[in-house]
Amino acid sequence: MSLVLGIESSCDETAAALVTSDRRIVAQRIASQDEAHAPYGGVVPEIAARAHAERLGPMIEAVLADGGVSLSDCDAIAATAGPGLIGGVMVGLVSAKALAMASDKPLIAINHLEGHAVSPRLADSELTFPYDLLLVSGGHCQILRVEDVGEYRRLATTIDDALGEAFDKTAKILGLGFPGGPAVEQLAMQGDPGAVALPRPLKGSKEPHFSFAGLKSAVLRAQQSGDHKPEDIAASFQQAALDCVIDRLKRALDAQEKPTGSLVVAGGVAANMAIRGALERFASTRDMRFIAPPPSLCTDNAAMIAWAGCEHLARANFAPDPLDFVAKPRWPLDPHADPARGAGVKA
Ligand code: KG4
Ligand code: ZN
Repeated sequence: MSLVLGIESSCDETAAALVTSDRRIVAQRIASQDEAHAPYGGVVPEIAARAHAERLGPMIEAVLADGGVSLSDCDAIAATAGPGLIGGVMVGLVSAKALAMASDKPLIAINHLEGHAVSPRLADSELTFPYDLLLVSGGHCQILRVEDVGEYRRLATTIDDALGEAFDKTAKILGLGFPGGPAVEQLAMQGDPGAVALPRPLKGSKEPHFSFAGLKSAVLRAQQSGDHKPEDIAASFQQAALDCVIDRLKRALDAQEKPTGSLVVAGGVAANMAIRGALERFASTRDMRFIAPPPSLCTDNAAMIAWAGCEHLARANFAPDPLDFVAKPRWPLDPHADPARGAGVKA
């Protein structure tokens, strides 16, 4: 059994965790920076990087103390090395390099998206490769076939906004504050999902990609019209987003030669109960097992990074990453995926 220290600092959560290869979260701590960014309605990279730099050192010490272990008891140090806000990523990666060097332990540079992608296996020991994954967070919105650790085939991506971004922008339009996803979900529970006619961008289109920019604009128009209650707008937005997700998923899975039998959801938006419910119903129509990690493992955390480290460490061809590994602001899981037609900057 091995023990891995994981570090996460790619966005606005500073996190450290100790995880064992037999799926035990020995200790973990997360500090959110919501209050620091709230006045700006979104994450300010410079503020995030400074907060990570202040908090990470004491947090790692605290996690080791919580777990009753020292650095020398760890078998590897895993840290998010991208993609994300580069200042924050560098704080976490440089800290991990220093710890690895000082303790003579292997460094494992983790792709943050891989952390999300394998997090369901930390929660569910029966989930084996391959599986189909809906990865939905604030920065990413993809359907992937997870063949193995480090082997991902992207089946679909967004041509504009990510799903979490659409939730956050809807929250901003409705004056719900930041971060918006949980607030929109709460408000939607009191509204009528059929009250406001909203578009389902790309629904029925041949390529399985996503688009949410038009939906966000329609939410803005609905709010500005003054004709609708905020809870109805929230519920109608969530329903429209959900319809798009299921339609795109159908299209992506139908285009595959072989089914995998497992539908998995991960990333911050996977904490949304309405989406989990819709995915579960969809999976049952296809005789697929549906797996969603507990909500605390869906939003950014370091346990998923430590677990991704465990997954790498367990591979026969494992090799530590060099101490001059460069932090990557962009780092697609599937480097061979074609750019989506009409796509903006997001890969
Ligand atoms: O994975 P994550 O913590 O950070 C990124 O890597 O982006 O995802 C954060 C995103 C935010 O856009 C947030 O609004 C969304 O996940 N989110 C939710 C919920 N909880 C978090 N969206 C909808 N419903 C939720 N309950
Ligand atoms: Zn994330």
